[in-house]
Amino acid sequence: MECPEVHRMYNNGFTTIEKVQDYIQLILKEYQSGKLRTFAIAEKNTNKLIGSITLDVVEVFARAEISYWINKNYRNKGYATESIKSIIKYCFDVLSLNRIQALTSNPASERVLEKSGMLYEGTLRQYFRMGSICWDVKMYAIIKEDFSSAK
Ligand SMILES: CC(C)(COP(=O)(O)OP(=O)(O)OC[C@H]1O[C@@H](n2cnc3c(N)ncnc32)[C@H](O)[C@@H]1OP(=O)(O)O)[C@@H](O)C(=O)NCCC(=O)NCCS
Repeated sequence: MECPEVHRMYNNGFTTIEKVQDYIQLILKEYQSGKLRTFAIAEKNTNKLIGSITLDVVEVFARAEISYWINKNYRNKGYATESIKSIIKYCFDVLSLNRIQALTSNPASERVLEKSGMLYEGTLRQYFRMGSICWDVKMYAIIKEDFSSAK
């Protein structure tokens, strides 16, 4: 997977097969803990893995944060929006959460969150850091009231 925008979301970057394998093991461990759930995004026709979406649940606040990526060859086909909308529905209807949020720092992702019904809430300054580089992120969220009234 050669995509710097995706790599920088993961601390070490997927530079070797071993790092990818370690990441898969981590996903399985986190899934078993019940806190973090990472779902594969597959293309319906081919069942090919084209991305993933991770749900980080903070149960005490009935809140979750999502993060996601789509393989660059499959972008701008609506896959991220479709996946995020499904996760939002799952969070409210199945997990009974109250707030779903996402942090983003690129225009395509902002657009996806808007299309999924999330609202921009503000900018968090220098929220992420990789090496010596820090960058700002925008917080988007949807709360249960928004979701229910949009039904
Ligand atoms: C963000 C990302 C997940 C979007 O995936 P996707 O499947 O292409 O998303 P969709 O097809 O559902 O929607 C993309 C929208 O962004 C728009 N878009 C694409 N590039 C854009 C740009 N440079 N500026 C503004 N809008 C842009 C598209 O036009 C489309 O909007 P539209 O339907 O109104 O035309 C994908 O680009 C990605 O994996 N980026 C790297 C990882 C990342 O940033 N993840 C998010 C932070 S956790």
